Amino acid sequence: MDHHIKEPNLAGGGKKRIDWAENDMPVLRQVHERFLKEKPLDGLNMSACLHVTAETANLCRTLKAGGADLLLCASNPLSTQDDVAASLVKHDGIKVFAIRGEDKETYYEHIRRAIQHRPSITMDDGADLVSTIHSEYPEQAGEIMGSMEETTTGVIRLRAMAKDGALKIPVIAVNDAMTKHLFDNRYGTGQSTVDGIIRATDILIAGKTIVAAGYGYCGRGFSMRARGMGAHVIVTEVDPVKAIEAVMDGYQVMTMEEAAKVGDLFCTLTGDINVIRPEHFRLMKDGAVVCNSGHFNVELDLEGLGKMSKRVEKEVRPLVDAHILEDGRRIFVLAEGRLINLAAAEGHPASVMDMSFAVQALATEYVVQNHEKFEPRVYDVPDSIDKWVAELKLKSMGVTIDRLTEEQVKYLSSWSMGT
Ligand SMILES: NC(=O)c1ccc[n+]([C@@H]2O[C@H](COP(=O)([O-])OP(=O)(O)OC[C@H]3O[C@@H](n4cnc5c(N)ncnc54)[C@H](O)[C@@H]3O)[C@@H](O)[C@H]2O)c1
Repeated sequence: MDHHIKEPNLAGGGKKRIDWAENDMPVLRQVHERFLKEKPLDGLNMSACLHVTAETANLCRTLKAGGADLLLCASNPLSTQDDVAASLVKHDGIKVFAIRGEDKETYYEHIRRAIQHRPSITMDDGADLVSTIHSEYPEQAGEIMGSMEETTTGVIRLRAMAKDGALKIPVIAVNDAMTKHLFDNRYGTGQSTVDGIIRATDILIAGKTIVAAGYGYCGRGFSMRARGMGAHVIVTEVDPVKAIEAVMDGYQVMTMEEAAKVGDLFCTLTGDINVIRPEHFRLMKDGAVVCNSGHFNVELDLEGLGKMSKRVEKEVRPLVDAHILEDGRRIFVLAEGRLINLAAAEGHPASVMDMSFAVQALATEYVVQNHEKFEPRVYDVPDSIDKWVAELKLKSMGVTIDRLTEEQVKYLSSWSMGT
Protein backbone atom coordinates (compact mmCIF):
# COMPACT_ATOMS: atom_id res chain seq x y z
CA MET A 1 0.00 0.00 0.00
CA ASP A 2 1.32 3.46 -0.78
CA HIS A 3 -0.78 5.08 1.93
CA HIS A 4 -2.11 4.51 5.44
CA ILE A 5 -4.98 6.80 6.30
CA LYS A 6 -8.08 6.57 8.43
CA GLU A 7 -10.93 6.56 5.92
CA PRO A 8 -10.74 7.06 2.13
CA ASN A 9 -14.42 8.04 2.03
CA LEU A 10 -13.63 11.31 3.80
CA ALA A 11 -11.90 12.59 0.65
CA GLY A 12 -14.80 14.75 -0.58
CA GLY A 13 -14.96 16.84 2.59
CA GLY A 14 -11.18 17.06 2.67
CA LYS A 15 -11.04 18.48 -0.84
CA LYS A 16 -13.51 21.22 0.07
CA ARG A 17 -11.37 22.13 3.06
CA ILE A 18 -8.17 22.23 0.98
CA ASP A 19 -9.83 24.36 -1.71
CA TRP A 20 -11.16 26.74 0.95
CA ALA A 21 -7.67 27.20 2.40
CA GLU A 22 -6.29 27.80 -1.11
CA ASN A 23 -8.49 30.89 -1.45
CA ASP A 24 -6.34 32.54 1.19
CA MET A 25 -2.96 31.41 -0.15
CA PRO A 26 -2.24 33.71 -3.11
CA VAL A 27 1.55 33.68 -2.75
CA LEU A 28 1.77 29.90 -2.68
CA ARG A 29 -0.60 29.81 -5.66
CA GLN A 30 1.87 31.89 -7.72
CA VAL A 31 4.67 29.49 -6.82
CA HIS A 32 2.36 26.62 -7.76
CA GLU A 33 1.67 28.08 -11.20
CA ARG A 34 5.36 28.60 -11.93
CA PHE A 35 6.27 25.12 -10.63
CA LEU A 36 3.64 23.63 -12.94
CA LYS A 37 5.37 25.20 -15.96
CA GLU A 38 9.00 24.85 -14.93
CA LYS A 39 8.96 21.52 -13.04
CA PRO A 40 11.97 22.35 -10.83
CA LEU A 41 11.54 19.16 -8.76
CA ASP A 42 11.08 16.82 -11.69
CA GLY A 43 11.98 13.21 -10.96
CA LEU A 44 12.80 13.81 -7.29
CA ASN A 45 11.52 11.68 -4.44
CA MET A 46 10.53 13.86 -1.51
CA SER A 47 9.34 13.02 2.00
CA ALA A 48 7.64 15.58 4.20
CA CYS A 49 6.86 15.19 7.91
CA LEU A 50 4.39 18.01 8.59
CA HIS A 51 1.08 18.62 10.32
CA VAL A 52 -1.42 17.10 7.90
CA THR A 53 -3.75 20.07 7.49
CA ALA A 54 -5.54 21.81 4.62
CA GLU A 55 -2.72 24.38 4.38
CA THR A 56 -0.07 21.66 4.22
CA ALA A 57 -2.13 19.99 1.50
CA ASN A 58 -1.74 23.11 -0.61
CA LEU A 59 2.02 22.96 -0.13
CA CYS A 60 1.94 19.28 -1.14
CA ARG A 61 0.00 20.10 -4.30
CA THR A 62 2.63 22.73 -5.16
CA LEU A 63 5.54 20.32 -4.65
CA LYS A 64 3.74 17.75 -6.76
CA ALA A 65 3.09 20.40 -9.44
CA GLY A 66 6.86 20.97 -9.41
CA GLY A 67 7.37 17.32 -10.34
CA ALA A 68 8.15 15.74 -6.96
CA ASP A 69 7.05 12.21 -6.09
CA LEU A 70 5.84 13.13 -2.62
CA LEU A 71 5.22 11.15 0.55
CA LEU A 72 3.65 12.91 3.54
CA CYS A 73 3.60 11.70 7.14
CA ALA A 74 2.44 13.50 10.29
CA SER A 75 4.69 15.59 12.53
CA ASN A 76 2.35 15.09 15.48
CA PRO A 77 0.01 12.18 16.28
CA LEU A 78 -2.89 14.49 17.14
CA SER A 79 -2.77 17.12 14.39
CA THR A 80 -3.83 15.11 11.33
CA GLN A 81 -7.03 16.12 9.56
CA ASP A 82 -8.18 12.70 8.31
CA ASP A 83 -10.37 14.14 5.55
CA VAL A 84 -7.45 16.13 4.18
CA ALA A 85 -5.25 13.01 4.24
CA ALA A 86 -7.92 11.11 2.30
CA SER A 87 -8.27 13.84 -0.31
CA LEU A 88 -4.51 14.07 -0.88
CA VAL A 89 -4.45 10.35 -1.63
CA LYS A 90 -7.54 10.30 -3.81
CA HIS A 91 -7.36 13.59 -5.69
CA ASP A 92 -3.68 14.45 -5.73
CA GLY A 93 -1.90 11.11 -5.88
CA ILE A 94 0.20 11.86 -2.81
CA LYS A 95 1.37 9.01 -0.60
CA VAL A 96 0.03 9.84 2.85
CA PHE A 97 0.86 7.94 6.04
CA ALA A 98 -1.01 9.69 8.85
CA ILE A 99 -3.98 8.94 11.08
CA ARG A 100 -5.27 11.31 13.72
CA GLY A 101 -4.70 9.78 17.17
CA GLU A 102 -2.11 7.24 15.95
CA ASP A 103 -0.01 5.78 18.78
CA LYS A 104 3.68 6.49 19.10
CA GLU A 105 4.63 3.21 17.43
CA THR A 106 2.46 3.92 14.36
CA TYR A 107 3.72 7.51 14.28
CA TYR A 108 7.32 6.27 13.97
CA GLU A 109 6.30 3.48 11.59
CA HIS A 110 4.94 6.19 9.29
CA ILE A 111 8.18 8.16 9.59
CA ARG A 112 10.12 5.00 8.65
CA ARG A 113 7.86 4.59 5.64
CA ALA A 114 8.78 8.15 4.62
CA ILE A 115 12.47 7.21 4.82
CA GLN A 116 11.91 4.00 2.82
CA HIS A 117 10.55 6.26 0.05
CA ARG A 118 14.29 7.08 -0.48
CA PRO A 119 13.86 10.84 -0.59
CA SER A 120 16.45 13.17 -2.13
CA ILE A 121 14.82 16.01 -0.25
CA THR A 122 13.07 16.01 3.13
CA MET A 123 10.92 18.48 4.98
CA ASP A 124 10.36 18.47 8.73
CA ASP A 125 8.31 20.20 11.41
CA GLY A 126 10.17 19.40 14.62
CA ALA A 127 13.05 17.36 13.11
CA ASP A 128 11.62 13.89 13.82
CA LEU A 129 12.21 12.76 10.22
CA VAL A 130 15.81 13.94 10.00
CA SER A 131 16.65 12.64 13.47
CA THR A 132 15.17 9.20 12.63
CA ILE A 133 17.27 9.11 9.44
CA HIS A 134 20.35 9.80 11.57
CA SER A 135 19.50 7.23 14.25
CA GLU A 136 18.04 4.38 12.19
CA TYR A 137 19.05 4.89 8.53
CA PRO A 138 22.39 6.73 8.68
CA GLU A 139 23.51 5.19 5.39
CA GLN A 140 20.73 7.12 3.63
CA ALA A 141 21.86 10.56 4.84
CA GLY A 142 24.31 10.90 1.94
CA GLU A 143 21.47 10.52 -0.59
CA ILE A 144 19.73 13.64 0.72
CA MET A 145 20.44 16.96 -1.02
CA GLY A 146 18.94 18.94 1.82
CA SER A 147 16.10 19.26 4.29
CA MET A 148 13.79 22.10 5.28
CA GLU A 149 12.86 22.72 8.93
CA GLU A 150 9.59 24.47 9.74
CA THR A 151 9.64 25.19 13.47
CA THR A 152 11.72 26.75 16.26
CA THR A 153 12.09 23.50 18.19
CA GLY A 154 13.29 21.65 15.08
CA VAL A 155 15.87 24.32 14.28
CA ILE A 156 17.13 24.18 17.89
CA ARG A 157 17.51 20.39 17.67
CA LEU A 158 19.29 20.57 14.31
CA ARG A 159 21.66 23.31 15.43
CA ALA A 160 22.51 21.15 18.47
CA MET A 161 23.25 18.24 16.11
CA ALA A 162 25.45 20.47 13.93
CA LYS A 163 27.31 21.76 17.00
CA ASP A 164 28.05 18.19 18.09
CA GLY A 165 29.28 17.34 14.58
CA ALA A 166 26.42 14.82 14.31
CA LEU A 167 24.46 16.44 11.46
CA LYS A 168 24.96 14.66 8.14
CA ILE A 169 22.40 16.54 6.02
CA PRO A 170 22.33 20.22 4.99
CA VAL A 171 19.29 21.92 6.50
CA ILE A 172 17.50 25.14 5.61
CA ALA A 173 16.02 26.86 8.69
CA VAL A 174 12.70 27.90 7.16
CA ASN A 175 11.44 28.87 10.63
CA ASP A 176 14.08 31.60 10.80
CA ALA A 177 12.89 33.34 7.63
CA MET A 178 11.34 36.69 8.58
CA THR A 179 8.21 35.96 6.57
CA LYS A 180 7.79 32.77 8.61
CA HIS A 181 8.35 33.33 12.33
CA LEU A 182 7.29 36.98 12.49
CA PHE A 183 3.83 36.12 11.25
CA ASP A 184 3.22 32.38 11.53
CA ASN A 185 4.59 32.00 15.07
CA ARG A 186 3.08 35.26 16.30
CA TYR A 187 -0.22 35.87 14.54
CA GLY A 188 -0.88 32.25 13.55
CA THR A 189 -0.11 30.69 16.93
CA GLY A 190 -1.68 33.64 18.75
CA GLN A 191 -5.06 33.30 17.10
CA SER A 192 -5.19 29.52 16.71
CA THR A 193 -4.12 28.83 20.29
CA VAL A 194 -6.97 30.94 21.64
CA ASP A 195 -9.23 29.19 19.11
CA GLY A 196 -8.09 25.74 20.30
CA ILE A 197 -8.63 26.62 23.96
CA ILE A 198 -12.13 27.89 23.26
CA ARG A 199 -13.09 24.90 21.12
CA ALA A 200 -11.79 22.48 23.75
CA THR A 201 -13.33 24.18 26.78
CA ASP A 202 -15.94 26.75 25.66
CA ILE A 203 -14.71 29.00 28.45
CA LEU A 204 -15.22 32.75 28.43
CA ILE A 205 -11.82 34.41 28.04
CA ALA A 206 -12.99 37.81 29.31
CA GLY A 207 -12.20 38.28 32.97
CA LYS A 208 -9.95 35.19 33.23
CA THR A 209 -6.40 35.30 34.50
CA ILE A 210 -4.37 33.63 31.80
CA VAL A 211 -0.74 32.68 32.28
CA ALA A 212 1.47 32.55 29.17
CA ALA A 213 4.74 30.74 29.76
CA GLY A 214 7.29 32.12 27.31
CA TYR A 215 7.33 35.51 25.59
CA GLY A 216 8.97 34.55 22.31
CA TYR A 217 7.15 34.89 18.99
CA CYS A 218 4.39 32.44 19.92
CA GLY A 219 4.02 33.75 23.47
CA ARG A 220 3.74 37.34 22.25
CA GLY A 221 1.03 36.41 19.78
CA PHE A 222 -0.93 34.42 22.33
CA SER A 223 -0.66 37.07 25.06
CA MET A 224 -1.78 39.77 22.65
CA ARG A 225 -4.85 37.84 21.50
CA ALA A 226 -5.84 36.67 25.00
CA ARG A 227 -5.63 40.25 26.24
CA GLY A 228 -7.64 41.39 23.24
CA MET A 229 -10.45 39.11 24.37
CA GLY A 230 -10.46 40.59 27.84
CA ALA A 231 -8.16 38.29 29.81
CA HIS A 232 -5.79 39.52 32.46
CA VAL A 233 -2.52 38.11 31.12
CA ILE A 234 0.48 37.12 33.23
CA VAL A 235 3.74 36.23 31.50
CA THR A 236 6.49 33.98 32.86
CA GLU A 237 9.96 34.02 31.28
CA VAL A 238 13.55 32.95 31.88
CA ASP A 239 15.13 35.50 29.52
CA PRO A 240 15.50 38.90 31.21
CA VAL A 241 15.25 40.84 27.93
CA LYS A 242 12.01 39.13 26.91
CA ALA A 243 10.72 39.70 30.44
CA ILE A 244 11.36 43.45 30.18
CA GLU A 245 9.60 43.44 26.81
CA ALA A 246 6.57 41.77 28.38
CA VAL A 247 6.54 44.29 31.25
CA MET A 248 6.75 47.20 28.82
CA ASP A 249 4.03 45.67 26.66
CA GLY A 250 1.86 46.01 29.77
CA TYR A 251 1.74 42.46 31.13
CA GLN A 252 2.36 41.33 34.67
CA VAL A 253 5.54 39.26 34.83
CA MET A 254 6.27 36.89 37.68
CA THR A 255 7.60 33.41 38.40
CA MET A 256 5.51 30.35 37.61
CA GLU A 257 5.41 29.67 41.34
CA GLU A 258 3.60 32.98 41.91
CA ALA A 259 1.47 32.71 38.79
CA ALA A 260 0.36 29.17 39.67
CA LYS A 261 -1.58 30.50 42.67
CA VAL A 262 -3.66 32.99 40.70
CA GLY A 263 -4.03 31.66 37.14
CA ASP A 264 -7.31 30.31 35.77
CA LEU A 265 -5.70 28.99 32.58
CA PHE A 266 -2.07 28.25 31.74
CA CYS A 267 -0.54 27.87 28.31
CA THR A 268 3.10 26.98 27.66
CA LEU A 269 4.78 28.29 24.49
CA THR A 270 8.47 27.86 25.22
CA GLY A 271 9.95 24.86 23.36
CA ASP A 272 11.34 23.88 26.78
CA ILE A 273 10.80 20.84 29.00
CA ASN A 274 8.79 20.62 32.27
CA VAL A 275 7.89 24.29 32.43
CA ILE A 276 4.88 23.51 34.66
CA ARG A 277 5.78 20.87 37.25
CA PRO A 278 4.24 19.27 40.37
CA GLU A 279 5.49 22.12 42.59
CA HIS A 280 3.31 24.41 40.43
CA PHE A 281 0.30 22.09 40.01
CA ARG A 282 0.26 21.80 43.82
CA LEU A 283 -0.45 25.54 44.11
CA MET A 284 -3.19 25.81 41.48
CA LYS A 285 -6.82 26.68 42.11
CA ASP A 286 -9.59 24.10 41.79
CA GLY A 287 -10.63 24.01 38.13
CA ALA A 288 -7.39 25.42 36.70
CA VAL A 289 -6.93 24.57 33.01
CA VAL A 290 -3.47 23.75 31.62
CA CYS A 291 -2.42 23.36 28.00
CA ASN A 292 0.55 23.66 25.68
CA SER A 293 1.16 25.25 22.31
CA GLY A 294 4.90 24.55 22.07
CA HIS A 295 6.02 21.92 19.60
CA PHE A 296 6.44 18.84 21.79
CA ASN A 297 4.24 17.49 24.57
CA VAL A 298 7.03 17.92 27.12
CA GLU A 299 6.25 21.39 28.45
CA LEU A 300 3.75 20.17 31.07
CA ASP A 301 5.10 17.52 33.44
CA LEU A 302 2.09 15.24 33.04
CA GLU A 303 3.90 12.26 34.47
CA GLY A 304 4.47 14.27 37.64
CA LEU A 305 0.85 15.42 37.64
CA GLY A 306 -0.28 11.81 37.18
CA LYS A 307 1.73 10.73 40.24
CA MET A 308 0.22 13.42 42.46
CA SER A 309 -3.33 12.77 41.24
CA LYS A 310 -5.70 10.53 43.17
CA ARG A 311 -7.40 9.67 39.89
CA VAL A 312 -7.79 10.86 36.32
CA GLU A 313 -11.18 11.19 34.65
CA LYS A 314 -10.51 10.85 30.93
CA GLU A 315 -12.40 12.97 28.41
CA VAL A 316 -14.77 14.82 30.73
CA ARG A 317 -15.34 16.55 27.41
CA PRO A 318 -13.48 15.77 24.19
CA LEU A 319 -9.77 16.52 24.63
CA VAL A 320 -10.16 17.44 28.31
CA ASP A 321 -8.85 15.14 31.09
CA ALA A 322 -9.60 15.96 34.73
CA HIS A 323 -6.82 15.23 37.22
CA ILE A 324 -8.24 14.97 40.72
CA LEU A 325 -5.68 15.83 43.41
CA GLU A 326 -5.63 14.25 46.91
CA ASP A 327 -7.65 17.11 48.42
CA GLY A 328 -10.27 16.96 45.63
CA ARG A 329 -9.01 19.93 43.59
CA ARG A 330 -9.34 19.38 39.84
CA ILE A 331 -6.81 20.32 37.19
CA PHE A 332 -8.03 20.08 33.61
CA VAL A 333 -5.42 19.09 31.02
CA LEU A 334 -6.18 19.85 27.38
CA ALA A 335 -5.20 17.55 24.48
CA GLU A 336 -2.77 15.49 26.59
CA GLY A 337 -0.39 18.45 26.54
CA ARG A 338 -0.02 18.37 22.75
CA LEU A 339 -0.19 21.50 20.58
CA ILE A 340 -3.61 22.81 21.51
CA ASN A 341 -4.09 24.83 18.32
CA LEU A 342 -3.67 21.77 16.12
CA ALA A 343 -5.25 19.19 18.40
CA ALA A 344 -8.41 21.14 19.22
CA ALA A 345 -8.62 23.67 16.38
CA GLU A 346 -7.36 23.69 12.81
CA GLY A 347 -3.87 25.09 13.27
CA HIS A 348 -2.87 28.37 11.73
CA PRO A 349 -5.21 30.09 9.31
CA ALA A 350 -4.31 29.70 5.64
CA SER A 351 -3.45 33.35 5.13
CA VAL A 352 -0.43 33.10 7.42
CA MET A 353 0.65 29.64 6.23
CA ASP A 354 0.63 31.15 2.73
CA MET A 355 3.94 32.84 3.53
CA SER A 356 5.49 29.97 5.50
CA PHE A 357 4.71 27.43 2.81
CA ALA A 358 5.71 29.70 -0.09
CA VAL A 359 9.09 29.90 1.70
CA GLN A 360 9.11 26.08 2.06
CA ALA A 361 8.47 25.56 -1.65
CA LEU A 362 11.03 28.14 -2.74
CA ALA A 363 13.61 26.80 -0.27
CA THR A 364 13.10 23.35 -1.81
CA GLU A 365 13.87 24.73 -5.25
CA TYR A 366 16.90 26.53 -3.78
CA VAL A 367 18.20 23.22 -2.40
CA VAL A 368 17.82 21.53 -5.79
CA GLN A 369 19.75 24.34 -7.48
CA ASN A 370 22.51 24.68 -4.89
CA HIS A 371 22.94 21.36 -3.09
CA GLU A 372 26.34 20.68 -4.59
CA LYS A 373 27.74 23.68 -2.70
CA PHE A 374 26.18 22.69 0.62
CA GLU A 375 27.87 21.17 3.66
CA PRO A 376 25.99 19.35 6.43
CA ARG A 377 25.06 22.39 8.49
CA VAL A 378 22.07 24.67 9.13
CA TYR A 379 21.63 27.39 6.50
CA ASP A 380 19.40 30.47 6.54
CA VAL A 381 16.79 31.02 3.86
CA PRO A 382 18.24 33.49 1.31
CA ASP A 383 17.08 37.04 1.89
CA SER A 384 15.85 37.24 -1.71
CA ILE A 385 13.20 34.57 -0.97
CA ASP A 386 12.02 36.43 2.14
CA LYS A 387 11.72 39.70 0.21
CA TRP A 388 9.92 38.10 -2.75
CA VAL A 389 7.37 36.45 -0.47
CA ALA A 390 6.82 39.68 1.50
CA GLU A 391 6.35 41.76 -1.65
CA LEU A 392 3.87 39.35 -3.11
CA LYS A 393 1.94 39.08 0.14
CA LEU A 394 1.66 42.85 0.35
CA LYS A 395 0.48 42.99 -3.25
CA SER A 396 -2.17 40.37 -2.53
CA MET A 397 -3.35 42.54 0.37
CA GLY A 398 -3.63 45.55 -1.91
CA VAL A 399 -0.92 47.42 0.00
CA THR A 400 1.67 49.55 -1.80
CA ILE A 401 4.73 50.90 -0.02
CA ASP A 402 7.25 53.64 -0.80
CA ARG A 403 10.48 52.99 -2.69
CA LEU A 404 13.81 54.53 -1.72
CA THR A 405 14.78 57.49 -3.90
CA GLU A 406 18.25 57.43 -5.46
CA GLU A 407 19.32 60.08 -2.96
CA GLN A 408 18.09 57.92 -0.08
CA VAL A 409 19.89 54.83 -1.37
CA LYS A 410 23.11 56.86 -1.50
CA TYR A 411 22.53 58.42 1.94
CA LEU A 412 21.79 55.09 3.61
CA SER A 413 24.96 53.53 2.25
CA SER A 414 27.32 56.40 3.05
CA TRP A 415 28.97 57.51 6.27
CA SER A 416 30.15 61.00 5.35
CA MET A 417 27.03 63.04 6.05
CA GLY A 418 26.39 63.88 9.74
CA THR A 419 24.59 66.71 11.53
N1 LIG B 1 1.55 25.83 18.13
C1 LIG B 1 2.09 26.05 16.95
O1 LIG B 1 1.44 25.91 15.91
C2 LIG B 1 3.50 26.52 16.86
C3 LIG B 1 3.90 27.37 15.82
C4 LIG B 1 5.21 27.82 15.79
C5 LIG B 1 6.10 27.41 16.76
N2 LIG B 1 5.68 26.54 17.73
C6 LIG B 1 6.56 26.06 18.79
O2 LIG B 1 6.36 26.90 19.93
C7 LIG B 1 7.54 26.94 20.73
C8 LIG B 1 7.99 28.37 20.90
O3 LIG B 1 8.35 28.91 19.64
P1 LIG B 1 8.80 30.45 19.47
O4 LIG B 1 9.03 30.64 18.02
O5 LIG B 1 7.91 31.33 20.24
O6 LIG B 1 10.23 30.36 20.22
P2 LIG B 1 11.05 31.56 20.86
O7 LIG B 1 12.44 31.06 21.00
O8 LIG B 1 10.80 32.82 20.09
O9 LIG B 1 10.38 31.74 22.30
C9 LIG B 1 10.45 30.83 23.35
C10 LIG B 1 10.50 31.66 24.64
O10 LIG B 1 10.31 30.77 25.75
C11 LIG B 1 11.16 31.22 26.79
N3 LIG B 1 11.37 30.12 27.74
C12 LIG B 1 12.21 29.04 27.63
N4 LIG B 1 12.11 28.27 28.73
C13 LIG B 1 11.19 28.85 29.55
C14 LIG B 1 10.67 28.53 30.82
N5 LIG B 1 11.07 27.46 31.48
N6 LIG B 1 9.74 29.38 31.36
C15 LIG B 1 9.33 30.49 30.70
N7 LIG B 1 9.81 30.84 29.49
C16 LIG B 1 10.73 30.03 28.92
C17 LIG B 1 12.42 31.66 26.06
O11 LIG B 1 13.21 32.53 26.87
C18 LIG B 1 11.85 32.35 24.84
O12 LIG B 1 11.63 33.73 25.05
C19 LIG B 1 8.54 26.05 19.98
O13 LIG B 1 8.44 24.74 20.48
C20 LIG B 1 8.04 26.10 18.55
O14 LIG B 1 8.51 25.01 17.79
C21 LIG B 1 4.40 26.12 17.82
